[in-house]
Amino acid sequence: MTKHFIDFDDHSLEILQNIIDRAISLKKEHKEGHVNNSLNNKTLAMIFDKSSTRTRVSFEAGMTQLGGQSLFLSEKDIQLGRGEPITDSAIVISSMVDAVMLRLSSHEDIIEFSKHSSKPVINALSDESHPCQILADLMTYQEQRGAIKGKKIAWIGDGCNVCQTYMQAVNIFDFSLSIATPEGYEPSQSYVDKYQNNIEYFNKPLDACIDADIIVTDVWTSMGQESEQKERELAFKGFQVDEEMMSKAKNDVIFMHCLPAYRGKEVSADVIDGKQSVIWDEAENRLHVQKALLLYLIEN
Ligand code: CP
Ligand code: NVA
Repeated sequence: MTKHFIDFDDHSLEILQNIIDRAISLKKEHKEGHVNNSLNNKTLAMIFDKSSTRTRVSFEAGMTQLGGQSLFLSEKDIQLGRGEPITDSAIVISSMVDAVMLRLSSHEDIIEFSKHSSKPVINALSDESHPCQILADLMTYQEQRGAIKGKKIAWIGDGCNVCQTYMQAVNIFDFSLSIATPEGYEPSQSYVDKYQNNIEYFNKPLDACIDADIIVTDVWTSMGQESEQKERELAFKGFQVDEEMMSKAKNDVIFMHCLPAYRGKEVSADVIDGKQSVIWDEAENRLHVQKALLLYLIEN
C-alpha cells in the first residue's frame, strides 16, 4: 500500500519518532560533509497554490542533498489551475514521479489527490493542518531539551492549521496543550470534538502560559484570510507573546514560531529575537526532518 503523510495522527508514535531520530542523524551527517545519494534518480513533484519560503526551499534542497530532483509546480501554471480534475492530475503526475508534495488550500483536495496517486503524497500545509511543521517542532524540542513526553505546550493566538496539528500530536507524543485564543478564533469544532485528552482552552493568554515548557504562536492572519486582517488585529489585541507571558512559563521555556513572523503583532521583537527563541533551528529542521520523511516514504 502506498504510504502518505497527510494527517499527523495517521501515523504511530514509533514511525514518527523514527523519522525525528533519523532527521537528527541526517543533520549531523550533513554537517560533517557526508554525501547521501539514497534518492538518486528519484523525483519529487511539488504543487503549490499558496506562497512558501521554508517549505519550498527545504523540500528542494532536501531532494538535491539526497541525490534526487524536485519539480516546482505552481498551481496556476499547470492544468490543475485551469480546472483539470484532481483525479486526472493525480494519476498522471504520480505516474511520472516518485512522490508528490502538495500545498493546497483545501485539505479535502489533498486527500482526493492521494486517493488517485500511485506514489506517496505529502501534505505541505492545508487549511486544516501542517504536519511537516510539527515534525520539525518536535525534533527541535528533542534537540534542545529532550523528550516531549509529559511537557506542556502553550499555544497562543489563532486556532489555525498549525495549532490543529499540535492537537493531533498530543495523544501520540503524550504532552499537554493549553490553547489561548480570542473568542471566535478557536480551532474548528470538529478538531475540538475529536481531540480532547490533555487539551485545555483559555481566553486569557497569561493563564495558558503558566509552567509551559514551550510557548508557540503563529500569524494572526493566515494565507487566504487577508481580507480579515484589520478585524483580526483588533480581535487579537492582548495576544502578542511578550516577556510577561514568557515569565509565567518554566525557567527553561523555549519560544517557537513556524514563520513567517510579524514582530510587534503576534510576538514582540524581544521575545522572537531573544535567547529563549529557537526559531532559526526550528526553520532549519524543516530540511532535516523532511529528508527523513522522504526517505521513509520513498525508499524501497
Ligand atoms: N513555516 C512554513 O511552512 O513556512 P513557508 O510558508 O515559508 O513554507
Ligand atoms: N497559519 C499559517 C502558517 C504558515 C506557514 C498560514 O496558513 O498562513
